[in-house]
Amino acid sequence: MINQILSQILKEKGIGNLTITKSDRPDLCDYQSNDVFKISKELGKSPQEVGKNICERINLLDNFDKYFEKVEFIFPGFLNIKVNDDFINKEITKMKENKKFNVKMPEKKEVFVVDYCGANVAKPLHVGHMRTTIVGESVARIIRFLDHKTICDVHLGDYGLQIGQVIYAILRDKKQIEDIDIKYLDKVYPEVSALCKNDEIVREECSKITKELQEGNDRYRELWKKILEVSVSDIKKNCDYLGAHFDYWYGESDAYSYLPEIEKLLVDKKLLVESQGALVVNVSKESDKKEIPPLLFKKSNGAYLYASTDLACLLQRKKDFNPDHILYVTDLRQALHFEQVFRTADLCGLFPKDSLEHLGYGTINGMDGKPFKTRDGKAPKLENLFHEIKDIFISKKEENRNL
Ligand code: ARG
Repeated sequence: MINQILSQILKEKGIGNLTITKSDRPDLCDYQSNDVFKISKELGKSPQEVGKNICERINLLDNFDKYFEKVEFIFPGFLNIKVNDDFINKEITKMKENKKFNVKMPEKKEVFVVDYCGANVAKPLHVGHMRTTIVGESVARIIRFLDHKTICDVHLGDYGLQIGQVIYAILRDKKQIEDIDIKYLDKVYPEVSALCKNDEIVREECSKITKELQEGNDRYRELWKKILEVSVSDIKKNCDYLGAHFDYWYGESDAYSYLPEIEKLLVDKKLLVESQGALVVNVSKESDKKEIPPLLFKKSNGAYLYASTDLACLLQRKKDFNPDHILYVTDLRQALHFEQVFRTADLCGLFPKDSLEHLGYGTINGMDGKPFKTRDGKAPKLENLFHEIKDIFISKKEENRNL
């Protein structure tokens, strides 16, 4: 804001068109301009000569002090700008008085879906889940501030193998439906997940349960609903604590009914090809610098995957909201997945690729330098972390009452 105002002032005072940006060296100055190189090229003169000249002219302005504290030319071609404090104060006060802080509102109001938090149901939340929730909520609030229609959808992982694993444990432990609570889920998920790694029979059984659940097995669906109820209320509690609010608590399961239609679309567009018994979409391009493998749509056993439900969900969102943009907030390890999904959506004409964006961020790692995983059961639970932080905060506050 201030930089645009300064730029406008310099233009009005006849100094010229200078783009002013935030300083790369806040220890030295508030703002800077890198335009000297461009202007000197246009004039066919050296950057030093041009830069010094601009700098002098600025310093000679009548009311220089009203706006600036210091404007310097820095070799080889930068202008370093320190702004007068009173001027900043006045501008900030003006912003404060304006309803939207004087931020320029976009001319076209668009519809955004923001997909974040997306925890996998039946697994306890850990510290790693904090980032998607906070980043996603912040992005959503910024977009909403700009008066765009903003739809927040959590997209829970509520239909995957982890549900099969928990149902396996419930049947094995002969638990009744009322016995299923968050404590039980927290205990059995890491346990069965570890078991699956070493025991092929258990692994097969869990996949079979997952598939039958998705095909509509009544008993499994009843258990699934209970798992969902227990787990989602825990997720909601954590989201509330972080101040994240969603318009829709949809999950992968809600996209399921759109799978046949998306499959038909891919078939009609001749995009689905067979590869070792599975159905895939080739998404690589000649211009790719690194290889982008095909998107796996359906496994040879007929099971759909994460990418298939994301495509189905795109169809659902198109029908429900017809958004201009969809933003996905997850860590960067999912970058390839989203690239494959976005390319497929573009190829089949569902959404142009540039309307879909993955906002990837880094992972939160444990002491071993590797990202936390719920299935190890070692990551600190998010809720406990909140309590610990609160306790530390209170004790610090008591130690130092002046704080
Ligand atoms: N459930 C996923 C996970 O835990 C995140 C979901 C992100 N959203 C999406 N539409 N794929 O990794």
